[in-house]
Amino acid sequence: MVILNNVFQPSYRDADKAHIGSMDQYHKLYEQSIQDNEGFWAEQAERLHWYKKWDTIKEVDYTKAAIKWYEGGQLNVSYNCIDRHIEAGHGDQTALIWEGNNPDEDRSLTYNDLLSEVSKFANVLKAHGVRKGDRVCIYMQMIPELAIAMLACTRIGAVHSIVFGAFSSDALRDRINDSSCKVLITQDTGVRGTKQDIPMKVHGDHAVAKTPSIEHIIVVKRTGADVEMQNGRDLWWHEEMEKVDSNCDPEHMGAEDPLFILYTSGSTGQPKGVMHTTGGYLVYASMTHHYVFDYQPGDIYWCTADIGWVTGHSYIVYGPLSNRATTIMFEGVPNYPDFGRFWQVCEKHKVNIFYTAPTALRALMREGDDFVTKHDRSSIKLLGTVGEPIKEPEWTWYYNVVGEQNCPIVDTWWQTETGGILITPLPACTPLKPGSATYPFFGIQPVILTPEGEEIDGNPAEGLLAIKDSWPGQMRTIYGDHKRFFDTYFAMFRNYYFTGDGAKRDEDGCYWITGRVDDVLNVSGHRLGTAEVEGAIGAHEAVAEAAVVGFPHDIKGQGIYAFVTLMAGVEANDDILGGIKQKVRDLIGPHATPDKIQFAPALPKTRSGKIMRRILRKIGENELDSLGDTSTLAEPAVVDDLVKNRK
Ligand code: WT7
Repeated sequence: MVILNNVFQPSYRDADKAHIGSMDQYHKLYEQSIQDNEGFWAEQAERLHWYKKWDTIKEVDYTKAAIKWYEGGQLNVSYNCIDRHIEAGHGDQTALIWEGNNPDEDRSLTYNDLLSEVSKFANVLKAHGVRKGDRVCIYMQMIPELAIAMLACTRIGAVHSIVFGAFSSDALRDRINDSSCKVLITQDTGVRGTKQDIPMKVHGDHAVAKTPSIEHIIVVKRTGADVEMQNGRDLWWHEEMEKVDSNCDPEHMGAEDPLFILYTSGSTGQPKGVMHTTGGYLVYASMTHHYVFDYQPGDIYWCTADIGWVTGHSYIVYGPLSNRATTIMFEGVPNYPDFGRFWQVCEKHKVNIFYTAPTALRALMREGDDFVTKHDRSSIKLLGTVGEPIKEPEWTWYYNVVGEQNCPIVDTWWQTETGGILITPLPACTPLKPGSATYPFFGIQPVILTPEGEEIDGNPAEGLLAIKDSWPGQMRTIYGDHKRFFDTYFAMFRNYYFTGDGAKRDEDGCYWITGRVDDVLNVSGHRLGTAEVEGAIGAHEAVAEAAVVGFPHDIKGQGIYAFVTLMAGVEANDDILGGIKQKVRDLIGPHATPDKIQFAPALPKTRSGKIMRRILRKIGENELDSLGDTSTLAEPAVVDDLVKNRK
């Protein structure tokens, strides 16, 4: 290992056979990917099996938010993730290792097993009227049937919409209705950490009471807990699987046919149904997984994310399986039964590549090194992080203690919208700087813009992060609202995709993501809109008005700070406080619960009545010396009260 000015160049175990072995090679391929962009992406698409090749590589017009890749091409995602590996003689290879929440439970599926399960479930969906283009909602914990259900949808061309299992029934209902899903797939109850009976089916029932489009609920028996089954509407997964055969021809899908919808938070109260399509997404997920994780045949690969978020879509299921990886799916949490769980699983399954979130590292590093060192981690060759900025303390701990200074760390920057990783080190060559996602991936042209939309050339630079030109993994629209797609990402800066993040570029051209510049929070890697949380708080009958900001939180990265004004004549008390938190859990989910609630007689507003969030943010961050100009406030004295009663 070499360290220069806090630049790390670890000796990587697989350096000799790495897919990209030197910075020279990186620069050469990167140049090519920009100079001959279409040629490059044509070549990369060959990593997949196509029933029919495309007519055009790319047709992109950001002035209309019109994005197409590989138009005219035909392929099937499940065929690419399963069948072709079997046809190449690898049917007995383990595709999926499932590690249960409770340490004595695990299961593994070969590619042959996966084909049979996926084909059967595809036939179940067909038998219940699901056709190409229909939307299917999946609301589950991390059990193998979740991956099987996704792949079954892709086999018949149904569009899945996965709703993270911690969302409340109200949030589930809204997402089902937004894309009129025909079927809901869930499980009896869920198991996660010390919680052994998360009422998934009950939430599903509540949601479906107000979703006219749902015809059936298909229920996996995970725990055997008693659940109510409504005759005609509700079906048991295991019973349905017995009625069908295990052959199902994969549908030939157009490259631009929708693959999935995944809801994410934006700056309004209404979540956005991010839509990805078939060909470009799979090319991009597959290729990034191959290069960024330097996946080599036989590697055991573990991404600890939940499939309810995009990381799980791209880097537990589609990227790895398209590359014939052995991918681990973990039902549990990092601190159950103890804080050594991640490393115990690494030891048990001899994990080679480990990908997790900074928030988990921050939670674990506080518990001491013994939980790590008592497990054999010698199998690990490569570490990764995603989801939020990683800071030096947890980077260094990850590097020194978990990786014993032998493993490169890939700090991967990307978004639900981007489908896959856009800025990242490559493990065998990129010099690492703790906290920097370093350089753009092939074909990606990041720029730093001024607020006026001028590109800042030269280094160093700091400003707004945007991407010039398109890449195949880019989202194509917001389901049912193309105008919002245009307005959110392309209206502010002409001919760029605007990310919503701020960034710096240092002397060496390395990118450092500084965090969101819009009203989006990142709480333990979970994306939440301040407007969504405000809407939920405002639904409590005692609340007149609420404003939510983020504040630095030791473990979560960002915590949620809510300023709440109650209705005239209502006195703040613990009941109201508890009631507000409960409201947020009911309307969104426990992950959105405010960490701090401050009752305030009034919120700081301009004379035209606009809440001055800048001031609230500063109070939340405890930067009281830099509240800035408060003279334009309608009632400057409001701020004194807020500062005095700061939580
Ligand atoms: C936002 C996207 C990407 C999958 C998981 C989150 C932040 C993501 C990093 C990173 C700094 C990061 C950004 C981005 N983010 N990765 N490596 N370094 N920040 O997806 O929920 O769509 O959130 O997460 O702010 O915009 P998401």
